[in-house]
Amino acid sequence: MKRLSNILLLFFLTVPVLAQPYLDPGRSVSERVDDLLSRMTLEEKIGQMTQVNFTLYNSTGRQDKVDLIPEKFIPLVRDHKIGSFLNGVAATPEVWERYSRQLQELNLKHSRLKIPLIYGMDHVHGTNYVTGGTIFPQPLNLAATFNDKWGREMGRVTAREAADLGHHWIFAPILDLAVNPYWPRVYETFGEEPLLAQRMGSAFIEAVETEPTIAPYKLAATAKHYLGYSGSDSGWDRTPAQIPQQYLYEFFVPAFRSAVDAGVDTVMINSAEINGTPTHANPRLLDQLLRKELGFEGVAVTDWEDILYLVSRHRVAHNEKEATRMAIEAGVDMSMTALTTTFPAVLKELVEEGAISEERIDKSVRRILSLKFRLGLFENPFPRADRFDRVGSSEHREMARMAAEESLVLLKNEDQLLPLQREIKLAVVGPNAFTKRDVSGGWTLNHQGGREEDYPARVKTVAHALKVEFPNLVKAEEADVVVAVVGEHPYAEGSGNIQDLTLPEEQLEVLKSAFSYGKPVVIVHMSGRPRLLGGFDEMADGFLWAGLPGFEGAPAIAGVLSGRINPSGRLPLSYPSAPGHFLPYHHKPQEKSTAAYPFGHGLSYTSFAASALEISENTASVTITNTGKVPGRHSVLWFLQDEVGRITRPVKRLRDYQSIRLDPGQSERLEYTITSRDLGYPDREGKLVLEEGWHTLSVEGQKIRIFQRDGRVIRTDKGEAL
Ligand code: BGC
Repeated sequence: MKRLSNILLLFFLTVPVLAQPYLDPGRSVSERVDDLLSRMTLEEKIGQMTQVNFTLYNSTGRQDKVDLIPEKFIPLVRDHKIGSFLNGVAATPEVWERYSRQLQELNLKHSRLKIPLIYGMDHVHGTNYVTGGTIFPQPLNLAATFNDKWGREMGRVTAREAADLGHHWIFAPILDLAVNPYWPRVYETFGEEPLLAQRMGSAFIEAVETEPTIAPYKLAATAKHYLGYSGSDSGWDRTPAQIPQQYLYEFFVPAFRSAVDAGVDTVMINSAEINGTPTHANPRLLDQLLRKELGFEGVAVTDWEDILYLVSRHRVAHNEKEATRMAIEAGVDMSMTALTTTFPAVLKELVEEGAISEERIDKSVRRILSLKFRLGLFENPFPRADRFDRVGSSEHREMARMAAEESLVLLKNEDQLLPLQREIKLAVVGPNAFTKRDVSGGWTLNHQGGREEDYPARVKTVAHALKVEFPNLVKAEEADVVVAVVGEHPYAEGSGNIQDLTLPEEQLEVLKSAFSYGKPVVIVHMSGRPRLLGGFDEMADGFLWAGLPGFEGAPAIAGVLSGRINPSGRLPLSYPSAPGHFLPYHHKPQEKSTAAYPFGHGLSYTSFAASALEISENTASVTITNTGKVPGRHSVLWFLQDEVGRITRPVKRLRDYQSIRLDPGQSERLEYTITSRDLGYPDREGKLVLEEGWHTLSVEGQKIRIFQRDGRVIRTDKGEAL
């Protein structure tokens, strides 16, 4: 009897698989996609191209609760056949697991072909929507470490904490460039230099997409926001950019090219416009450049409601239908309709009328299904609850702590005031010293940052962390040194638009009063972008750029002030001196930077010296020595300058970097291999132009002139033939 039932069970298990090859994991992804696609109706296909926000079916309708009301959710999958969902707010792993399980169960129950849903999350600096999750410094801080390890570790930790919760698709990394300090998303970027976005971004992508310990799951990363989003003229979010083709190839394309080369599964499209064409309606950028030139084969998703914005914001379409046609023709695969469900019906009409072909639909659906198969969602659609000890584990937090420590940039240290003796009497003033929210910024617990009371007890404010390091906290009148902690309060996207780079009056008042006691003042600046301090930084004895260092950030700040940590961050962008004039460090020769603190600036409690710069063929090498008295970490930056170009060339470009740690007296020999791409520049079609001639290579104060022909260094200015 038992045998018979076993045989029957086997029969019922295998027959559907044999009958439906797409359910057979033994087959290749393309076979499975072909089979599944051939069984799908047009509605089912278009549903796969649709992504909506969780607030359409949670109990409050607002971004404040992770739960679902079946009566609201079921019609989305049963009637609209929607295949993807997104977003959340901080919730415990238990809540996420229960929610994701219920979501997938209901989806599979109502999906005729049992196609699992894919869920997207903005975990942009650790698992920022998981209560108890590890919160890394924001990407701008990571960039200040010039240490790719932290891009990789943030990816690895995010994957390990998110995969089990049903968060399949991570909407990071952000590969936009911080070329305009007004832009409210500066802190989400890896700074103004493409090389940092290329390397940190790719390290993050590879870690998220290949982390072995999350088996049986796999995750997708997102290169966003393609393309030129941050080049906005006004500096406000989602506003027009004018970007010449050549400049686009030289500065904005490389990070996306590297992401595609690193195998990124998905790309999210820029909500704004370049040269008058909204990116979502730009076949030149989406179809030609992204697909054909960069070779991207994954899923291109819109950003929030962006097809509708072609009507309401950009006014390039009269209605949703026209906008939908434009976006699909341009190359969009999935529409993050977010808050509406009209897209599937509108797209279906377009196909039925013959305005869009079913082959075109198949192209996108094929990409989406391939992703779902690659991630193993058909085999492992459900979350699991047996590895929650990973979330916020001490090992993960240790990574976030080390990243935070390396990310702080000491901009000024008059007469070596810092580090401060632990016994001194210290006063702490300034609004940012007393909150947890301000240390991590937006995209933390909630889109605009959480409520103060929602931050975990273990997270410290700067005042709290200073008290641990300096027991003698006193009033400013009695203090030996005053620490003023100022900066921005959390914001994300458009709510961070500003008209003046200078901090608001109330913050300047705090600084003014800090100086009124006649004591040395150390300013700690926590912000998402380089705000100006009304000249008070010039008066300060110490000035620490803390950026947004995340949950482990406050003890790191206190540790730098006490000398427990030797600062090693270097600025990943130019810090302007005036609200009306700013240029990235890679400006043109006829321009003059007025930066208060240049790209790459950052002080240490020890000193480093470079020596013996040599070139052999295309490999340069240099010796770096810790010439000071304490151990320290140092980022070594290699720049190249093209001396004469047929089009004007930047004054210099960062071409390589390494982060090393040296004990006093210790040396290390480092190498940089100069590629032909480093010696040329792209033309307006993206083709590499190599002009025979001189370049100056500089590293940590050492310089050498090199002559290049066809991408090869053939001699130096010492007359040496190589
Ligand atoms: C942002 C994206 C984000 C998306 C989903 C948009 O407003 O621009 O970066 O991934 O929302 O939350």
